[in-house]
Amino acid sequence: MSPVSENKASVIDTGFTELLQTIEQSAAALRIAAQTQQSDDIGASIAAQMGLPFHANAEMARQAAILRLASERLTQLVTPPRHVLFEAAGSFYATLCMKILVKADVASVIEDTNASGVAAGDLAKKVGMDKELMSRLLRHLASKGIFQEVSPGVWANTANSRAMAHAPEFVAHLDLVMYEGSLALPYWPQFMDARSSGIAPAPLSPFAMYAANQPFYQWIHSSAPAALGRGANFNAAMKGMARTEGVPFLPADYPFGAKFPAGTTVVDVGGGLGSLPALVLPAAPHLKFVVQDLDAVVKEAAARGACGEWVAKGLVEFVVHDCFSPQPERLCGGNVFVLKAILHNYPDSKASEILTHIRAANPSKLLIIDRVIFPQFPAHAAAEHQPDSDGTTLRDGAAPAQSLVVPTMYDLIMAALHGGRERLFPEWTALLETAGFSVGAIYPMRASTGQFVVECVPAELAR
Ligand SMILES: C[S@@+](CC[C@H](N)C(=O)[O-])C[C@H]1O[C@@H](n2cnc3c(N)ncnc32)[C@H](O)[C@@H]1O
Repeated sequence: MSPVSENKASVIDTGFTELLQTIEQSAAALRIAAQTQQSDDIGASIAAQMGLPFHANAEMARQAAILRLASERLTQLVTPPRHVLFEAAGSFYATLCMKILVKADVASVIEDTNASGVAAGDLAKKVGMDKELMSRLLRHLASKGIFQEVSPGVWANTANSRAMAHAPEFVAHLDLVMYEGSLALPYWPQFMDARSSGIAPAPLSPFAMYAANQPFYQWIHSSAPAALGRGANFNAAMKGMARTEGVPFLPADYPFGAKFPAGTTVVDVGGGLGSLPALVLPAAPHLKFVVQDLDAVVKEAAARGACGEWVAKGLVEFVVHDCFSPQPERLCGGNVFVLKAILHNYPDSKASEILTHIRAANPSKLLIIDRVIFPQFPAHAAAEHQPDSDGTTLRDGAAPAQSLVVPTMYDLIMAALHGGRERLFPEWTALLETAGFSVGAIYPMRASTGQFVVECVPAELAR
């Protein structure tokens, strides 16, 4: 065998051919799913509104996820290992570029000036930056598909950078990741040391170390100078996050209307400004929602929440309630409880406390809407995963193809800000069991960063 053919054999051994096959098969399946798409499907209209043509139905979304994962692996495979490591080590320069360009709202300025391209000199003047430095920041992000140099020294948006234009709530979400994340960053080494040396009491999180032991939610509503405006930014970010996470698809991904009969009360624990009922009620106006949150958030919901008309119709009620205390008597017995993006804020001991209070309220069902991490083992052919016959639910423990870039980043964000965590499927099952819940079907949220609707029932109802 010549050295060249030996090389070819080792390329095949490392999965190159399999990855190419997966990409070809998924691309073909995606095309077929697009052709068989029903134009009146609720998912299709949401996909059109959100500008996500590859998520118009659940099968397309599934194939798009496989394509992304296989492409990520293929890119890693053909990139020299030292480049992969170097890029990971220097990835904070992308954060730096984002921080500066997002603050100057460059994406909106390009859109408003000339969407087909703005000369660097004009752009720099409009955003008040040095032309050369601004161009260098833009060029680094352009290497990641964010902004593009359409001709020498002329800058335009890409679909990615355009998502930041005139999107204050989405930008608030980016800002939350960058601002509070940067405050916590210097405390990670100390946090890791304290945890490994078993110092008691262990610090809650790197952010709490920065904030003199205040929990994150207390700090953002506090009078600390660095916290000024952060509570409002957080609430806006939660609205922006709903779009980042493809939450508008929720009525298509999980059939609230068909699942629950008229008269059902859904208790949205830590429901923020009411984005869940605002999404669900148009498709399921026979349901009622009680949204529970902290005092400051309930006040803001009254002033600026997403549910004005539904509150007026008596279908949504905002109530101050601390999720670490027992549920009020009137909500006990037979209601559906929802915990959306709540439990990942907490370590198991605290998450279990919240669950135990909900379990004591004797719900008919509990829906966890949160990330589930499915490790993508090399031997694990993600492409082989098939959804159940209804095309939406996953078989117990079946692993969907999932890019782990953002889910694992969220895991670290949760650790940084709250001492919380994202969870693997068996970790969810174990946590829920400690509080007396049994996990049933789980529904993927098609355009999210690994979120699922996990249906749970009190364990004795599952028997
Ligand atoms: C990550 S946000 C999720 C908000 C909403 N469920 C969503 O998905 O958009 C967490 C929410 O929990 C609320 N929260 C924090 N501590 C709480 C507590 N002790 N009791 C009730 N809600 C709390 C926060 O104010 C915030 O609205």
